[in-house]
Amino acid sequence: MPSTGIGTSTEPFVFFCNGRKVVDEDVDPELTLLTYIRTKLRLTGSKLGCAEGGCGACTVMVSSYDADTKTIRHFSVNACLAPICSVHGMAVTTVEGIRSTRTKLHPVQERIAKAHGSQCGFCTPGIVMSMYTLLRNNPVPNMDDIFSAFEGNLCRCTGYRPILEGYKTFTKGGGCCGGRGGQNGCCMMNGSNGDNREQATNGASDELTNRTNGGNSDGVSTALFQADDFTPYDSSQEPIFPPELMTSSLTATKSVSFVGKRLTWHRPVTLPELLNLKAQHPSAKIVVGNTEIGVEVKFKNQLYPILVCTTHIPDLQEISVTDSGIHVGASVNLTTLDEFLKKHIKQIQQSHKTRVFSAIVEMLKWFAGHQIRNVAAVGGNIVTGSPISDLNPLFMAAGCTLELESQKNGRRSVKMDQSFYTGYRRTIMQADEVLVSIHIPYTSQNEYFYGYKQSPRREDDIAIVNAGIRVRFEPGSKVITDLSMAFGGMAATTVMATKTSESMIGREWNDELVSEVSTSLAKELPLLPGAPGGMETYRQSLTLSFFFKFYLKVLEDLDVKVSPVDRSAFTSVDHKNFHSAQFYQEVPSGQPSYDSVGRPDAHKTALQQATGEAVYCDDIPRIEGELYLALVTSTKAHANIIAVDTEAALAIEGVHTYVSAADVPGDNMIGVIIHDEELFATKQVHCVGQIIGGIVAENQAIAQRAAKLVKIQYEELEPIITIEDAIEKQSFLKDPLIVKKGDVEEAFKASDHIIEGEVRIGGQEHFYLETQCSLAIPKGESNEMEIFMSSQSLSHTQHVIADCLGVPYNRVVCRSKRLGGGFGGKESRNFNFNAACAIAANKVNRPVRTMLDRDEDMVMSGTRHPYLGRYKVGFTKEGIVKGLVVDLYANCGISWDLSPAVMERAVLSSDNAYLLPAVIVTGYTCKTNLPSNTAFRGFGAPQGMLVAETWMSQIAVKCGISQEQVRSLNLIREGQLTHFNQTLNNCTVRRCWEECLEKSCYASRRQQVDSWNKANRWKKRGLAAVPTKFGIAFVQKFMNQAGALIHIYTDGSVLVSHSGVEMGQGLHTKMIQVASRYLKVPAKKIFISETSTNLVPNTQPTAASSGSDLNGNAVKDACEKLMHRLEPFMLANPKGTWEDWVTAAYLDRVSLSATGFYKTPNIGYDWEKNEGMPFNYFTFGAAVSEVEIDCLTGDHEVIRTDIVMDVGDSINPAIDIGQIEGGFTQGYGLFTLEDHRWNPKGHLLTRGPGFYKIPGFGDVPKEFNVSLLRGVPNNRTICSSKAIGEPPLFLAASVFFAIKDAITSARADAGVSEEFRLDSPATSDRIRMACVDQFTKQFKEPVPGTYTPFFVRP
Ligand SMILES: Cc1cc2nc3c(=O)[nH]c(=O)nc-3n(C[C@H](O)[C@H](O)[C@H](O)COP(=O)(O)OP(=O)(O)OC[C@H]3O[C@@H](n4cnc5c(N)ncnc54)[C@H](O)[C@@H]3O)c2cc1C
Ligand code: FES
Ligand code: FES
Repeated sequence: MPSTGIGTSTEPFVFFCNGRKVVDEDVDPELTLLTYIRTKLRLTGSKLGCAEGGCGACTVMVSSYDADTKTIRHFSVNACLAPICSVHGMAVTTVEGIRSTRTKLHPVQERIAKAHGSQCGFCTPGIVMSMYTLLRNNPVPNMDDIFSAFEGNLCRCTGYRPILEGYKTFTKGGGCCGGRGGQNGCCMMNGSNGDNREQATNGASDELTNRTNGGNSDGVSTALFQADDFTPYDSSQEPIFPPELMTSSLTATKSVSFVGKRLTWHRPVTLPELLNLKAQHPSAKIVVGNTEIGVEVKFKNQLYPILVCTTHIPDLQEISVTDSGIHVGASVNLTTLDEFLKKHIKQIQQSHKTRVFSAIVEMLKWFAGHQIRNVAAVGGNIVTGSPISDLNPLFMAAGCTLELESQKNGRRSVKMDQSFYTGYRRTIMQADEVLVSIHIPYTSQNEYFYGYKQSPRREDDIAIVNAGIRVRFEPGSKVITDLSMAFGGMAATTVMATKTSESMIGREWNDELVSEVSTSLAKELPLLPGAPGGMETYRQSLTLSFFFKFYLKVLEDLDVKVSPVDRSAFTSVDHKNFHSAQFYQEVPSGQPSYDSVGRPDAHKTALQQATGEAVYCDDIPRIEGELYLALVTSTKAHANIIAVDTEAALAIEGVHTYVSAADVPGDNMIGVIIHDEELFATKQVHCVGQIIGGIVAENQAIAQRAAKLVKIQYEELEPIITIEDAIEKQSFLKDPLIVKKGDVEEAFKASDHIIEGEVRIGGQEHFYLETQCSLAIPKGESNEMEIFMSSQSLSHTQHVIADCLGVPYNRVVCRSKRLGGGFGGKESRNFNFNAACAIAANKVNRPVRTMLDRDEDMVMSGTRHPYLGRYKVGFTKEGIVKGLVVDLYANCGISWDLSPAVMERAVLSSDNAYLLPAVIVTGYTCKTNLPSNTAFRGFGAPQGMLVAETWMSQIAVKCGISQEQVRSLNLIREGQLTHFNQTLNNCTVRRCWEECLEKSCYASRRQQVDSWNKANRWKKRGLAAVPTKFGIAFVQKFMNQAGALIHIYTDGSVLVSHSGVEMGQGLHTKMIQVASRYLKVPAKKIFISETSTNLVPNTQPTAASSGSDLNGNAVKDACEKLMHRLEPFMLANPKGTWEDWVTAAYLDRVSLSATGFYKTPNIGYDWEKNEGMPFNYFTFGAAVSEVEIDCLTGDHEVIRTDIVMDVGDSINPAIDIGQIEGGFTQGYGLFTLEDHRWNPKGHLLTRGPGFYKIPGFGDVPKEFNVSLLRGVPNNRTICSSKAIGEPPLFLAASVFFAIKDAITSARADAGVSEEFRLDSPATSDRIRMACVDQFTKQFKEPVPGTYTPFFVRP
């Protein structure tokens, strides 16, 4: 691409990375900072999790010098969005740059690792860098600062609590000291921790009281880490800013240009230079934060050949104060604006003047995360013109004006009102015009302004509807002289409700106005059924809710007394204070120090994860000759493939070949239970995202670009998308699965009441932070192939790949060091990607790598199964269940995959933890045109259990008894039979339940909640308790086996290998602890390197929570063999050391390598006869959660959660508590936030973190207590422990039912008493629309079938 000749410089691109100067004479401006540091600088600590600024895994710190103010600014940045050229003349610090295990750890790295805040570790470097940046700016932050710093970071494993607790130690006084008496005394004693303290002390059990006394009793510990051991943080030890960047021409006074092959980057430094550029190249794209453009380029295939970066033009960077308000330069980033406004609000004498500024500051709290706000500009938000922009409604309602300028026409001022936006993301601006600044006016004494936003997740989320509302009164009166209302999310642009506003001028501000405005707004902002965005009635209701909130708030501002009950419409309780407590049994006093079983050891590679040294699949250095595979996938849900045209793709320079079914030497059919899926589709496609072929090219960029050029011609067929469609068309994978016990008809006859109903549970995206990845390396002889992969199921993947290659299994080696999360999504759905990669490598006979982009992964890899449960339950008037008939329908997608097995567990979990005397459960596996749905933590059990809890909660309503009473009455007991006829032995569910109710002070809090609800009309609280019982074992008997291989080397070091894969769950750590016990050596002598099919063959997936049970026993077996061999040498030299015995054995020619094997005894279940033992034992637990909902918007917050779980004798309490908290948080996402939406043609709409919301830091319960039940050894598995991976997930249903409880109260206030249906997830739209009131009643839900909905929930 030729240079434009404007503002070009001959200077090379320069920046500093981790203190090292990087000079690049030939920089490619198309690259992002992340790609540059990962591929060019080989710094792989920063991770790619989403490429859209939504997960924070790529967070780095950028430091820049302002020569005018002589200040250095440190700010966190999403390296995945930052164009490489944007850091010209700046310093970048990555996780590797702050320190490593080879030097001395930085406290930020040390504390997250030792506080157990890193599980799979894929998010950890990004979290470390967010915290590091915070500390560089504020060495002693408070908890609000910490929460705020993490708004842009996601973690799928930990549930956030341990990260927050670890980093709380940086706050003044170290935050909560865990009962050990911190610098300022214990907060739990002196009540200094604010509002929640009352609850915590109300909830105090003996243990909590003990904890507050700073000690423990009965060997109960509350300390999972020793904060006293942490290296103190000394900010003076931080590296200095490179002096060269303060003095040289790099400091921004000179314009520069960098010319790449397809794109030129200009960074002018004056406004005339910018205008000149735009005059000559009107299509040149202005870029500031790149947070809109970056997403367009990556996901919408846009190419902007000329980018003009305006971050260094003073006119666009200025904020100036005038008599009438402030002028904000278009390139001012949101953090700078926020800081300026906060300062200005404080400084200004007449506080009424800054009402708009306060609304902007409030709105910015909910605008993206820090990484985005640090770079995203005000102008970018305005010019993009997104209909859900958060700032535009405020600017429009405030009456802002914009300064536009072009070289040709000079400067003009335009009002920022409805005429500024001319259509979806279009404005009146001319192509050569630039936005120079925005003028935001002051408000007058009698003028009021507020902003509103409702999004699916409170933090870092885009709005469903937002608004800015301003009213001005005649001085000294309540008569309206001006009303201005702007709404986002109601049309293709931000809209102003001008008609309604105008019609209210001259009116008095009183209650009548509310109903008139409501009626008028409903007419003025209509949404027809099927409108883009969907949720039509909810969105319309929100506009009225916002106005109502505004009305009441202004009323109060006008000194009119608003009734306490109504004040809840606009007040919010600050639940920000965060507390947590963890209780576990300490190891017995005599336990040898080498034996680490039962101790809260940190994850064995947590330090490497925190320093970025931990190697994930895509971090493996590039291999000589390596190529990249980009997949070509179906864009139709159901179609015949008519033709595939690869010509244009193959013509691109750097493309090597196209792979397809024709290149599969073996079998093109794959699958896990049966082979019913094509690896590469041949004649027909069955879902969007199905693999048809792939482009192999020199690198990822070329391969992906070429893959998009492959043209597929389809003949479309009718798709089946939803469960209801499948039922109607009788589309099932196989015959229904039935479990039957007792005589249901008789049971119904003996019942006082029978109720029938149905409930839906949505699917769930795994959202492992590391997407599916594969590196296939042909070995060059004997058809050998080695594949590094991110897979939970190495042996099965080995078999699939070997079958596809047509070679024996012994030629294929599958290896995995660690996974950046799996959760079931890499148990079988990785087959397709790994096999496609292997086929490509086989074809080109070179190493080939592939890593799915987040959106590809979400579209292609399947999810948790959506379920529909239909039930009929008979019970006595006291609430005792007599008989139950349940039909479960799972949306399985296109193929079997693991669906029948998932259904088995759902059917077996339909009792949750209750006694069912007579039952018929039938499971239907619906075949649809969605990607094949698959295993996900819980494996069908959470779906089955939610149906159970739904009818259970209805029984309580029908019988007029409390929810917890009806649950307690029906809880299954020791010795009773489940509906699948397994006797419950060592059943501790009642102990968990009672302990949980007691610890949480359920009874007194129930009363508090009820009285709180009486005093508040528009916010409601809810409280619920839920038990769980989770069967442990693979239901398929043969799968309950595992192997291990242990080598002892002659220096005494031990290498353990076993069947299990480390994916963050701490399996390797636990296995090292087990080996330490049975080899009687300290854990530090033991190492686990990786999992590989050539170390332990014929393994089962690491799944079903059974990893520790199966592998632990296999490791034990191998250890015992080795100890048996070493015994003579120990006896011969009793005073010798481990090393002495090992050496002696070696010299005596004794094998120091042993395999171990284990199969779970006495299990197996006969489905026909409904007898046997499908499970080895059960893990039990209970949870109590309290929530607060906003009845007007559907927003909710979890105030407190208490969990009690029986994990047997925990092998590692820190890991087990981590699994409980992480599982609970994932379940919380399942039941409240994570909403999968598809269009009726089978395209996933909720792709990427922008649209699909997993819980974030702000969603942690404000008080989160976890206790492990004491004195419950489990003699059925290793070290008397219990499996824990999946069981806690369902406990998050306590939040779901607490929400339902809160809604019930809202409905009662509205005079609606009948039972209502609440489907999962309890999203804000469902909550709001269930809280019926005068606003929702204005809108009628469109009748299904009479229109095409914008989205369906499948
Ligand atoms: C993860 C994530 C979260 C987000 N969350 C939110 C949110 O909560 N609320 C919200 O409203 N938005 C959100 N956004 C959208 C985005 O961050 C904002 O719109 C932001 O203000 C854009 O600024 P930018 O500097 O990054 O724009 P850029 O991407 O650099 O530019 C955006 C557009 O503005 C044009 N432009 C910029 N400056 C000028 C100028 N001076 N003259 C003419 N044209 C100009 C550019 O040419 C381009 O077309 C989010 C984006 C991401 C990636
Ligand atoms: S990879 Fe950058 S934010 Fe997710
Ligand atoms: S540890 Fe955070 S995503 Fe795994």
